[in-house]
Amino acid sequence: MVLKKSWWEGAVIYQLIPRSYSDGNGDGIGDFQGLTKRLSYLRWLGIDAVWLTPVFPSPLEDGGYDITDFKNIHSELGDLSSFHRFLQSAHKFGIKVILDLVLNHTSTLHPWFQRARWAPKGSLERDVYVWSDDTNRYKAAPVLFRKFEDSNWQWDEVAGQYYFHRFLHHQPDLNFENPWVQEQILDVLDFWLARGVDGFRLDAVPFLFEAEGGRCEGLPETHAFLQKIRDRVESCGRDVLLLGEAIQPVNEAATYLKEDELHGAFNFSLTAHLFAAVAGGSNKDLYNCLKAAQDAVPGCRWAMPLRNHDELWLGDGHLVPEKIIQMITTGLHQGHGHWLNWGINRRLAPLLNGDLRANRLLNALLYSLPGMPCLYYGDELGMGDWPGLRDRDPNRTPMAWTSDRNGGFSSAPDPLLVLPPITSPGYDYRVVNVEVQKQLPGSLLNWHRRMLTCRRSLPALSQGDFEILPISHPSVIVFLRTIETMKVLVAANLSAAGASLYVDLSRWDGARTREVLWGCEYPPANSSWFIYLPSYGFSWWLIGEVEEANLNSSSTS
Ligand code: GLC
Ligand code: CA
Repeated sequence: MVLKKSWWEGAVIYQLIPRSYSDGNGDGIGDFQGLTKRLSYLRWLGIDAVWLTPVFPSPLEDGGYDITDFKNIHSELGDLSSFHRFLQSAHKFGIKVILDLVLNHTSTLHPWFQRARWAPKGSLERDVYVWSDDTNRYKAAPVLFRKFEDSNWQWDEVAGQYYFHRFLHHQPDLNFENPWVQEQILDVLDFWLARGVDGFRLDAVPFLFEAEGGRCEGLPETHAFLQKIRDRVESCGRDVLLLGEAIQPVNEAATYLKEDELHGAFNFSLTAHLFAAVAGGSNKDLYNCLKAAQDAVPGCRWAMPLRNHDELWLGDGHLVPEKIIQMITTGLHQGHGHWLNWGINRRLAPLLNGDLRANRLLNALLYSLPGMPCLYYGDELGMGDWPGLRDRDPNRTPMAWTSDRNGGFSSAPDPLLVLPPITSPGYDYRVVNVEVQKQLPGSLLNWHRRMLTCRRSLPALSQGDFEILPISHPSVIVFLRTIETMKVLVAANLSAAGASLYVDLSRWDGARTREVLWGCEYPPANSSWFIYLPSYGFSWWLIGEVEEANLNSSSTS
């Protein structure tokens, strides 16, 4: 029986920054040579896909989200051949590769922009970007990076006009009303599709088109162009994921998930609510948030990150209610003082004050909820961050592989490293690294691996229907994941206090129940089935008998 429709349904996505992952040629900068050698580790860990932050030529003023050539590889990372070798190896290991593609803007150093600023006003070349003689156009579009910019317009001396930029001033917005721009972007997709990539994380999708009188987000023209992208991807005949980054609340993000548009979108609202739930020890808002996402787009099309390369985005009050933001900043007190633009600029482990129980609980929820769990490199170890580095660099420091020099990331002398490895107390790379944690059975790394192995044996978790079960306990969340031949019951305690409760399993009265993570038999299902969860505890139970075929099926096959 074929259960899986597309490779990405329920896939576990591992996000990494190639420059910070592994240095193969000893120049202090991570590269494809180094990354290729780490594929066996990723296979061992048990993830399904890697998402690489942008790998294209770039002056790196915004971590590579400022591209100067869409059809090449940044020379520090390698070249098209080393990328090809990496992709081939990844596929041999059964790992899919997702590229991060920035559609909305380029770097000011992109030849298109340089040509535009010298071209005559009103010419087709100039109109590759969005220009104005004054700063009064699109006044209602909010400034996104408000820590760094106070306007969406930047004066260009050569052009004698202002250009529009939703992000940093060196990232001019492309003018998607210009058909030439649309053709170029579709051509870029063809280029990478022909090279065999398995998916694209489409950066900042809501902002492609502009119009007077609104926030310039999610305009009908933007949706129409995303549909063109979908058509282009479909025409390559392979199963390629289009995963959109829309920071908006879930009902808005859902508009990109129409059948003929993107396959998946990030659920950033869930991210914020998960943190709020453990900060406050309460299930209510999390229930509502899960319900809203499933009502909007049922199934497994939501990508679910805890952390990523950006700040923990808490919005400007429209993403989550102010009281939740307040709860997070006071509850997770380490977050205080690390506010960047709209959220907290810290990695997962320090955000949780190093509390491993809360860390495991949040990840266990990702591994059990419907969607694509996203794991940010280093968080599988509980890696720390480096507060005080520029912009979002605190969260982008080198991966810790061993206790050796530079954490095994690079053999280069320290001053040449892309960013410093973590040496802060409690998170020092000599202790928090892959080699050490592999050898400690109780480490966070081995925990992730075990959870992923277990998840693989329970296809109901990656592909199943989702149903929240009513309970009376305020800190516990209980839900079911079911496919035709398997029922998995999940319970998670969001608070630091232990919790005991009854769950109504009368629907399966008398059925066998087995806890699968800790491997123990429970009493048969009944109408007041008793469970106990310790502080931040969680469990997965199989209810009833399970066809052997399901237990053997793998989530990548
Ligand atoms: C996205 C990226 C972020 C980048 C921005 C501009 O939000 O995740 O890192 O700075 O787009 O491209
Ligand atoms: Ca290198």
